Amino acid sequence: MAAASVSHLRRGAQRYALLCLSRRRFSSSATAAAHLAATARRLLSTTVGSTAPSSGEQYKPPPFDSFRAASLASSAPPLESPPIDVPPSSLPPPEKAAAYEAAHEQATLACQDVELEGLKAGVEAVRSRDESPEEKEAWWLLGRSVVSYCGSPVGTVAANDPSTSQMLNYDQVFIRDFVPSAIAFLLKGESDIVKNFLLHTLQLQSWEKTVDCYSPGQGLMPASFKVRSVPLDGNSEAFEEVLDPDFGESAIGRVAPVDSGLWWIILLRAYGKITGDYALQERVDVQTGIRLILNLCLSDGFDMFPTLLVTDGSCMIDRRMGIHGHPLEIQALFYSALRCARDMIGVNDGSKNLIRAINNRLSALSFHIREYYWIDMKKINEIYRYKTEEYSHDAINKFNIYPEQIPSWLADWIPKKGGYLIGNLQPAHMDFRFFSLGNLWAIVSSLATQRQAEGILNLIEAKWDDIVANMPLKICYPALEYEEWRIITGSDPKNTPWSYHNGGSWPTLLWQFTLACIKMGRRDLARRAVEVAEKRLSDDKWPEYYDTRAGRFIGKQSRLYQTWTIAGYFSSKILLDCPEMASILICDEDFELLEGCACSLNKSARTKCSRRAARSQVLV
Ligand code: GLC
Repeated sequence: MAAASVSHLRRGAQRYALLCLSRRRFSSSATAAAHLAATARRLLSTTVGSTAPSSGEQYKPPPFDSFRAASLASSAPPLESPPIDVPPSSLPPPEKAAAYEAAHEQATLACQDVELEGLKAGVEAVRSRDESPEEKEAWWLLGRSVVSYCGSPVGTVAANDPSTSQMLNYDQVFIRDFVPSAIAFLLKGESDIVKNFLLHTLQLQSWEKTVDCYSPGQGLMPASFKVRSVPLDGNSEAFEEVLDPDFGESAIGRVAPVDSGLWWIILLRAYGKITGDYALQERVDVQTGIRLILNLCLSDGFDMFPTLLVTDGSCMIDRRMGIHGHPLEIQALFYSALRCARDMIGVNDGSKNLIRAINNRLSALSFHIREYYWIDMKKINEIYRYKTEEYSHDAINKFNIYPEQIPSWLADWIPKKGGYLIGNLQPAHMDFRFFSLGNLWAIVSSLATQRQAEGILNLIEAKWDDIVANMPLKICYPALEYEEWRIITGSDPKNTPWSYHNGGSWPTLLWQFTLACIKMGRRDLARRAVEVAEKRLSDDKWPEYYDTRAGRFIGKQSRLYQTWTIAGYFSSKILLDCPEMASILICDEDFELLEGCACSLNKSARTKCSRRAARSQVLV
């Protein structure tokens, strides 16, 4: 085994040791050994336990899940503060800790070997599988969209549409758009382009960036970049290539791409998992890149919630659509990126506090979303009967939501079976729109509980004609109309009702839907959606999005040959045939995180302990 992968495993073991050390109620060696054996059994198990989906085809969680081994300290110290001293009596003797470390390293090694072998065999299977004419076309088009820098592939352009000369910034490599391309390349065993992309975008992260003399925070990843040829100094004939990033300082509306860094972390983990090249994530510059992104996300502000506070248009919906505040899509990606980062951060004295901060944020975030963003028939009925203006610590209606806010469409729309996570939550405001990407990624990352995840897919099935109709999937439902459209979008003519971000249908969302369906054992649903898309995509020249309530027309200003439409379709087809490969992006429920609470605050009537509460959410 390569030295890099051995040292990666050692990191997993170190993290496990940190877990043992950080447990305040560390008991006898027998208990610890039993716990270790149980963890190893669970890591090795390929059977699906009581939380398994009920229907036929099931995704089997991979045998190795090293982030379970992360630190589980209780109340988190701030990022930069010195570590809390644990009383010596509660620490295991050093030789025992070393024994756990060794045993865990062995178990981890075996498990990870198995997973890597499985994924490698999967890549071979993908390479030798028969492709349909549509898939062949998609793969060819994907190759045509590749951008090179100094002779090496570094990404794919957003669109390669020969029918228009108005490319705006669609000739750039967008970070979020490249993710489905990267998945397609990784699944086909072509990982160089992904590695180059990860490293070059990392270099861009540290660029000096300013908007009208103001510099955004360090750690921000660009929304996109372009390869430009510039004349070499003093020479009008010789040129050199440079990467020119856009951090939002040129973007329409000047929006900061909060999602870029989160996607970058998610992709970095997927790359490591499928290639076994852990040396990349262990590099000092890569570790620094991860930390810079996390520092930006975890830094203190004025916020009262564990969710990430962002401006409008900071993600896939990159223009004004009333999603400022705490939009679900960002929260799902944030949760996912924290889980992935925890898996990759090297454990040492300098990172212990960061890992603690990640764990604490993860548990608070999952509690907050699971508890306050979830709605179904029962919850809407509760909100309908809410009392308002409650001033107390034990208020039921914590955010002072006025029942009049429940939109008229929702009462008839919400199915008896199923539910979803709302789009946004702020004081006295719930955005009841259904946003596909946030809900799907909440399933993929296990931000949603098992029951909620099943509920979301049930809702999509029950509301198929609204969310899938003639082209999967609607970016959000329903569209903003009339006065609401005028005020919220700023009268944006591109975002008229049922178009573009305002209820338009985006075929790229197919790959996220496929992943969610695979995780929940509902491949039947994903197959149905792919069949719908397959009928039109190639004939329609792979549009960026579709318009109208039922997704019948190619979007008014839609680009053709949009790369993430092509890559999303192609990756979905492969994932459906080889569902085990989905493990490179999926995170399973983290029971250790829920179990590991020793929060001293839970005794106080004032504060509800989020880990315990999150655990009870899972167990009901
Ligand atoms: C649009 C989309 C954005 C995407 C970009 C390039 O602006 O809203 O999510 O990254 O096009 O395809």
